[in-house]
Amino acid sequence: MPLPPEFLAEVKYRNNLADVVTSYVNLKKQGANFSGLCPFHNEKTPSFTIFSSTDSYYCFGCGAGGDVITFIRQIENLDYIEAIKFLAAKAGLNMPEDDAKSSAESKLKQRIFEINREAARFFHTYLAKDSANWRGYLKNRGVSIETIKKFGIGAAPDSFEALFNHLKNKGFKADDIAESGLVKRNQRGFYDTFRARLIFPIIDLRGNVLGFGARIAPGVDGPKYINSSDSKVFKKRENLYALNFAKSTKDDYLILCEGYMDVIALHQAVINSAVAALGTSFTDSQAKLISRYSQNIVLALDADNAGARATKRAIDILRNTGLNVKVVAIPEGLDPDDYIKKYGAVKFKALVEGAANDTEYRLFIEKEKFDVETDDGKLRFMREAVKILAQVADPIERDVYAAKLSTETGINKNTILEQIKSISGKTYNSARRTTARNVQIRANNRDKINPERHLSLMAARAEENFIKILMDNPDLCDFAKQTLLTNEFVTSFNAKIYDAVLKILERGLVFDIAYLAEDFTPLETGRIVEILDILPKSANPKNEMQSLVKVIKAEKSRLKTQNINDLSDENWADEMKNLVKNKMGEDKNGRQN
Ligand code: CTP
Ligand code: MN
Repeated sequence: MPLPPEFLAEVKYRNNLADVVTSYVNLKKQGANFSGLCPFHNEKTPSFTIFSSTDSYYCFGCGAGGDVITFIRQIENLDYIEAIKFLAAKAGLNMPEDDAKSSAESKLKQRIFEINREAARFFHTYLAKDSANWRGYLKNRGVSIETIKKFGIGAAPDSFEALFNHLKNKGFKADDIAESGLVKRNQRGFYDTFRARLIFPIIDLRGNVLGFGARIAPGVDGPKYINSSDSKVFKKRENLYALNFAKSTKDDYLILCEGYMDVIALHQAVINSAVAALGTSFTDSQAKLISRYSQNIVLALDADNAGARATKRAIDILRNTGLNVKVVAIPEGLDPDDYIKKYGAVKFKALVEGAANDTEYRLFIEKEKFDVETDDGKLRFMREAVKILAQVADPIERDVYAAKLSTETGINKNTILEQIKSISGKTYNSARRTTARNVQIRANNRDKINPERHLSLMAARAEENFIKILMDNPDLCDFAKQTLLTNEFVTSFNAKIYDAVLKILERGLVFDIAYLAEDFTPLETGRIVEILDILPKSANPKNEMQSLVKVIKAEKSRLKTQNINDLSDENWADEMKNLVKNKMGEDKNGRQN
């Protein structure tokens, strides 16, 4: 990969696939996805699809697929680097400099991770000594010792140089420490960023410490929380607190809370699917991150005005990513932490499980705004309600709400449905169903992209599922490497994808087509999009990987015993002789008949 991943990510972030494609193809929204007539082959009905959750496209007709870089490459007929230059120029970005610089960058990042880890250890140890009585505070808030350990909670001493000196004694350079954001610089030198605060390390999916959140002591003036600023290793907008734990939850949803303490309280109460944004409002990248782990998200933001605004924003973002959204209405204006303290985890779990879906929630919020007892209020409410329902993809769901609204307002249900239809202007069908059917059709056709696929469809499928699980679970990278080698693959095309995915994950990156597109044609990246977007997510990744490996290995050895190329020279000669003999025999028979 010749270009730094941050740069590729920036190019892609600034060139949203759907926006770019719109200037070439007339797109229609289909739920969270888009579809249109494929620009790469002639067709009358749309098979070209954009998957919003991964920002990738795939044509069910011709098999082309990939990300925005592949798309530009294909449609403008450019090579990989030219396509990136094209998109960079479009977004006003300069191309990065040479390789030497990017490897210096990655070494610096490694050092920042080490510094962060050492700092986390320092804070945690300091809390254990309890010089600042934080343990009393945590005890009052009901945080157990196990939880303190699990989350690596720590405390920063009331000092301007304790951490800085500690890190220097450990051999780190002042400039590197400053890059981590743990110290700041003024005219007189360096001073600690976090002082006299309770510390929450923010840990990514691979166990790296990205940065810290820090709470002020009770009764002291100042911002309640401060967070590490963005650094070379930390992008607040692209990470979630506690996803490192929540990704292994058995629940089929994730819960989004507002604060560190909410998440911690929930995990302690064995509700281990809770995550939180990191001191910024919820972002598109965070929604995409969530969608890699669960299709269902439950919003449990604070029940104050700010929380309600944040909920509305998050609903829009999450819907656009194709997630199913529910909203917990926490009574009495409490946040999850307070609620659990007051009523217990069982009641909170009940709230989560009985949460209204986002449509109900939005209708409820709209209705509050109008006096629906008056005709005018009724009409104005209905105008907003119809807009909300026009965004609902499922016709049955729309019908249910239209019926409800009709009862509430006395307006005829069919009138409401017609209004909704005239706004959305189209009927939705399930993209998933079409997808599944197309995959089935492909499986039965000859496969030009992976010509060895026919050797063992079973092995090829297992390989593809194995790769999919790896894409979704970067933390299983080491496990995958130990369990299955590239040369144990049955099909060399899938082995090539596996190798490319491993290389990406080994660099600590989350899988993205941009990182491997250079080595694959658009038809090949199309296959990668199929694996990424169409294969189902695994509920039990590690176990499933193990059973897939069994299938692959068994098929590999079955094929090996059949394969003439694998015979020793001597056997091979015998085999050839037999072949020739049989052939002559056939001919003879042919002549006799
Ligand atoms: N936050 C922030 N800066 C602030 C206040 C809040 O970054 N000045 C972020 C933090 O990530 C915090 C979240 O917003 O965890 C929620 O804030 P708030 O509801 O005020 O905090 P609580 O989690 O309720 O904190 P606590 O229970 O410790 O009082
Ligand atoms: Mn709180």
